[in-house]
Formats: sequence, structure tokens, C-alpha cells
Amino acid sequence: MVKSFKIEDTAAKLVEKSTLLKVLNYIDTVDLKTPVLLMDGDRIKRNVAIIGSGIGNCKVYYAVKANPSTEAIRFLSGLDVGFEISSEGELNVLSGLEVHPERIISSNPVKTVDFIKSAYSYGIRYFSYDSLTEVEKLSQHAPWSNLYVRLSIPNEGSEWPLSKKFGVEIDDALMLLTKAKERELNPMGITFHVGSQCNNIYSWNIALDKARLLSDMARDMGINISLINIGGGYPIKYTKSVLTVEAIETHINKLIKDRFPDGSIAVHLEPGRAVVGDAGIMVSRVTGKADRPDGEKWLYIDVGVFNGLMESIGGIKYTYITETRGGGDVMGINTGIKQNWTLAGPSCDSFDVIAKNVQLYEPEVGDMVLILSGGAYTVSYASEFNGCRIPETLIV
Ligand SMILES: Cc1ncc(COP(=O)(O)O)c(C=O)c1O
Repeated sequence: MVKSFKIEDTAAKLVEKSTLLKVLNYIDTVDLKTPVLLMDGDRIKRNVAIIGSGIGNCKVYYAVKANPSTEAIRFLSGLDVGFEISSEGELNVLSGLEVHPERIISSNPVKTVDFIKSAYSYGIRYFSYDSLTEVEKLSQHAPWSNLYVRLSIPNEGSEWPLSKKFGVEIDDALMLLTKAKERELNPMGITFHVGSQCNNIYSWNIALDKARLLSDMARDMGINISLINIGGGYPIKYTKSVLTVEAIETHINKLIKDRFPDGSIAVHLEPGRAVVGDAGIMVSRVTGKADRPDGEKWLYIDVGVFNGLMESIGGIKYTYITETRGGGDVMGINTGIKQNWTLAGPSCDSFDVIAKNVQLYEPEVGDMVLILSGGAYTVSYASEFNGCRIPETLIV
């Protein structure tokens, strides 16, 4: 049956029209078991083609954590992009698809010994670090590997900050580079992460200023920095416009040329969200509705905090579109008037509340709810808590 959705201009501007049309067509032709994540392959291809193209001497490594499903990785492995991984599980997905080790780096600063061993034996030779214990582990299990030290930088302006858990200040970074050299490793790079969903272009200024300072200090100690890994952080549109890839990269490219003018520095970029986020539309269904005693209207859907929308509780605000069957009926359903809803997931846990005060046309039980820009950090965070299904990823 052909489904109908009232898609307003504000929502339509958030995702590429072709992505929306493709997903809507797919929904009409296939009897879908929900929740399911539909990913527009053409949009992923375009993202891969654009990202990194504005920065000189730049290689792009997709951060697998954003969506590690075999479907997504198989698709990406056919494109001109590398992979950034953090764990044995992520390595297993890539090795299962026979992705060449030269296409893989690992930027998790604190890795398990088992992961270091299996990554090294697979042939991976690029690792980040930010502690002495990691120098020890890497020197023992990944000798002569190329190491890049993680600097701590402010994450202001990022909706998903990453600053506190990792990174060291310049003096400690210098000490770690020196120690790595003493322990038969090849310290040759600097990395940082401005925080995920970063909409503050000046975060890259601070980061590259610090990198430049550290690089100069390292040179004085006989260590040549030939790589800057600038992490991820590129934002995507959830409910509002954000910095474009072009604007960010024009800015970064200028900064790099200015801070490292001899042109010899290689750049690694490891975007996750910007590669797959806006290519994905999560398709869910309404499982129930209720009017609670305090007057709040609750809408329950089959994807929630635990099985796909974890980021909704950490600052990411999604755009939701409900199926509207057209016309009104005796229950006052689909009368074309938007109402304020509290949106909740399928589990019994009261933590499973995705959003409050969402203006939506009232759907019926069984109707679909589309969640835009749902391609990144959704299925990768999902658990089967309470027996709820993790959405399958399908490339369409
Ligand atoms: C080391 C590292 N690299 C890359 C990324 C990807 O970042 P984003 O999805 O913001 O592009 C992350 C995200 O957590 C990360 O921790």
C-alpha cells in the first residue's frame, strides 16, 4: 500500500531530496519489518567523494564505529576510502570482507592487548596513543609501528564532546613522543578530535595551533612529525543547518598551509557521522499511544534509547515524520493538526524516552515514523535490552 507522509519544508531541507524520495519509494514497494535503517548508497558515495577533497595531501578513513554493519562496510569497502577501527570486533568485520590492512588505522588511544596483537598480525601499522602504558603495550606487541599522539583540545561547540576521556597537553605529548622513540616505535604524528557534531569552526584553529607548537618542540628533540590526523567531528543536519564540508575544509586547508608551510605534512581524516549520518533514515512504527494524567500525550515507537536512538539522550535532536493516512476520522486522528508529543521507545524502562515536546501529526498504531539523519551512531550503540530488535541496516 502506498504510504503518505506530510513532509514540511523545514524537514525536507534537512536531508537530500533524492535520499528522501528513494526511501519513500522503497517503503512503498517492500513490506518492511521495522525498525529498520535504510541507507541511501548514492548519498554515502557522494559524502565519500566530497569529504577530504578540500584538504591537500589528505587520506580519509571512515570511523567504523559510526555504523559497523556488514552491509555498510561492504558497501564502503568498494569505494575509495580507508577505515579507522578501535576494537577486535571492528577488525573482524573488515577482515571478514578482506579489506587490505593498508586501508586500516586505529585511533583508539587505549587499546586492549588482544586487539593490538590481532591488528598488528593483520598488518595494521598506524596507531594512536596518549599514555605511557600504551607505549609499553605497543612496543611489545606492535614494534616499529607508526604512532600519533593524541592532544587534548577544547570541544566547545560540539554536540557530542570527546575531550575529557582522551588526550594530553603539549608537554606530556612531547614526553610520550620521546618515550616511543626510545622503545623502538616510530612516533611520527599528532592527532586530536574536536568533538563529534562540531559546529564551531574555530575548534580546528586551536587544535592546529597546538599541533604546530608540539611539532616544533618535537623537531628540537630529533623527532620529525610528518602526519597530522585531524580526527572526525564534521557535523550533519539533524534539525538545523550546520557548517558545510566545503566551508570546514577550506578553513582547515588554509590553517594547515599556514601552520605547516613546507607542504610535507600528510593529513589523515577519520569522519564517521558525516559519511553515513545523513544517508540513513530510520523507519519505525507506532506501537501505542496514551494520554497521561498530567496531560502529556505519549507516542510509543519500536525504536528507542536502547535499540538505536541512544544519542537522543546525549544532545542529538532528531527530526521525526509521521505517516498520515489523510483525512480525519471519528477518533480525531489525522485531522491535519499537529500536537505536542512525548516520544518513547519500546522497552519497559522509563529511561527509554527519546524526545519531549515534539510537534507531530497524530499517527495511528502501526503507522510509520521516519527518523531523519539516522545513519550514524544508531545501530552501533544498540542493544537488545528487553528483547527489542536492533534495526537491520539496508543499503537502498
Ligand atoms: C578517534 C575517533 N576518530 C573518529 C571519530 C569519528 O568522529 P565523527 O563521527 O564525529 O566524525 C571518533 C568518534 O568518536 C573517534 O573517537
